Amino acid sequence: MSKRGWIIYNGNLYTKKFAEQIKWLRKTAETFDFEIDVIANNQLLVAMEEGCARILTEKQKPDFVFFWDKDLFLARQLEEQGVRLFNPAKAIEICDDKALTYLQLANHGIRMPKTIIAPKVFVSLEDDSHLGQVIEILSFPMVIKETFGSFGEQVYLIKNEQQLRQKAKELQHKPHLFQEYIASSYGRDVRLNVVGDRVVAAMLRKSDQDFRANVTAGGKMYRYQPTEEEEKLAVRCSQIVGADFAGVDLLFGENDEPILCEINSNAHFKNIYDCTGVDITKDMMAFIKETITE
Ligand SMILES: Nc1ncnc2c1ncn2[C@@H]1O[C@H](COP(=O)(O)OP(=O)(O)O)[C@@H](O)[C@H]1O
Ligand SMILES: [Mg+2]
Repeated sequence: MSKRGWIIYNGNLYTKKFAEQIKWLRKTAETFDFEIDVIANNQLLVAMEEGCARILTEKQKPDFVFFWDKDLFLARQLEEQGVRLFNPAKAIEICDDKALTYLQLANHGIRMPKTIIAPKVFVSLEDDSHLGQVIEILSFPMVIKETFGSFGEQVYLIKNEQQLRQKAKELQHKPHLFQEYIASSYGRDVRLNVVGDRVVAAMLRKSDQDFRANVTAGGKMYRYQPTEEEEKLAVRCSQIVGADFAGVDLLFGENDEPILCEINSNAHFKNIYDCTGVDITKDMMAFIKETITE
């Protein structure tokens, strides 16, 4: 009997780019003989009444969910009800929050830029004395990242104390972190797509106009044959955060040694396909099939 799956996406982020990829996911899933429902997160409200939590839907519980969103309340409630999520809620939570990602990985000896998490501010930033320690440890230039962000849009290069103070003030109510700037990686990073314990596709991204290599920030994509060390690091990182699928970004150290930059639990698959011709949705659906029929 064919297995039933839901593809969950964000109902408030339904751009052309998302719509196209969701259609693509469904098509691939159907070639694996899955019976698929595509559902927006805002059509699945989590409600508490009469002493228990449930999801407001008439639909029957699926065998799995391809959770292509970051709505953690919904993700957790689905798991609470016994549904297998790809990726699991915990992995999505860790990857979505860069501070959580680095903390989780640091305890496993993963090579990454020196990182300091900004202390939480409730009302307003009156005491910015932590910045002194930040300068002492990281010096300039340094990188500031909002812990929630993508496409490089919430990543800043900070060149001096004035910029640091200004950015710290600006971000006082947004969780952020300070990070060592890896100069040897200027405008360059590698994206490795991991499925289970394998790297299924890789690309190099390069920009000559920005320290950020994101394609949205002007980076160009190139086919790339990762080294064994890079592959091992990517798979290990994906496993440590508990992801089934991950887009792992690596920076280049001074001797080209790989340095973990970030892990995406909801990596897009269009760019990697355009660059390499590898359709990672097939690997992902094959992995789901293997996992749920075990
Ligand atoms: N510590 C760093 N040193 C140098 N470059 C960095 C550093 N961190 C990030 N970058 C560059 O900025 C880009 C965006 O950072 P990243 O952490 O991946 O955020 P996002 O989630 O927005 O993609 C990276 O792809 C990389 O090119
Ligand atoms: Mg990135």
